Amino acid sequence: MTTAFKIFRYDPDTGREPHFQAFDVETPPGITILEALIWILENKDSSLAFRFSCREANCGSCAMHINGKYGLACRTQVSSLKAPITIRPLAHLPVQKDLVVDMKPFWDNYKQIKPYLIPAGDPPEKEYYQSVEDRKKLDHHVDCILCGACYGSCPVAYGDPKYLGPHALLKSLRFVEDSRDGAIEERLAMVASEFGVFRCHTIFNCQMVCPKDLNPTGAISKLKNKVIARKFPFFKFLVKN
Ligand code: SF4
Ligand code: FES
Repeated sequence: MTTAFKIFRYDPDTGREPHFQAFDVETPPGITILEALIWILENKDSSLAFRFSCREANCGSCAMHINGKYGLACRTQVSSLKAPITIRPLAHLPVQKDLVVDMKPFWDNYKQIKPYLIPAGDPPEKEYYQSVEDRKKLDHHVDCILCGACYGSCPVAYGDPKYLGPHALLKSLRFVEDSRDGAIEERLAMVASEFGVFRCHTIFNCQMVCPKDLNPTGAISKLKNKVIARKFPFFKFLVKN
């Protein structure tokens, strides 16, 4: 069986305008979008550029726009899609070649939220203890693989590259809710800043595309509530912890 693909092509070295190229791809049952791209690379056009590594939805490298939705190429079955299957790179990021984008703006925003533990006080003799219950509070935030699908799907990120973005804000909540972290005030001030949570229009695109079933929109709403409850104690009922 063959399936028709339309793939975004752009190579700044050729001087040619961005365009779509059609390919007929051999697609045996069970083949993923990533495997179809590898097939094209090996059989039709060795110049096709795209990123991947783990092939099992863990590294986050292969996020792209597949038939109208952002997702992981290695996790998307060809058989689940209607042909011609149209593939574009992640949005809002400069295209380096074909499906490869420059992730620097994504990482620059991410770095701003200090995505690491900042404990208060002197370090303990052995380790920072965390109870099972406190660790459980982080369960829903720790699985982010930083694929960028949420960022690509976010119209606010499109309009304002300085917006921290769903990936960075989800990670902020992960540290705000970590019982070992001592920088909650600093973190809430950061997310309440001009390019933080209040830029989010609660559109839910990020939640719909996340390949790990995470909820960045919910995380952003939770952060908004925490910021509001800090500033106006009357609204303490908005936050459970
Ligand atoms: S929140 Fe989901 S979509 Fe966004 S970077 Fe993390 S894993 Fe990817
Ligand atoms: S190749 Fe690693 S997530 Fe797809």
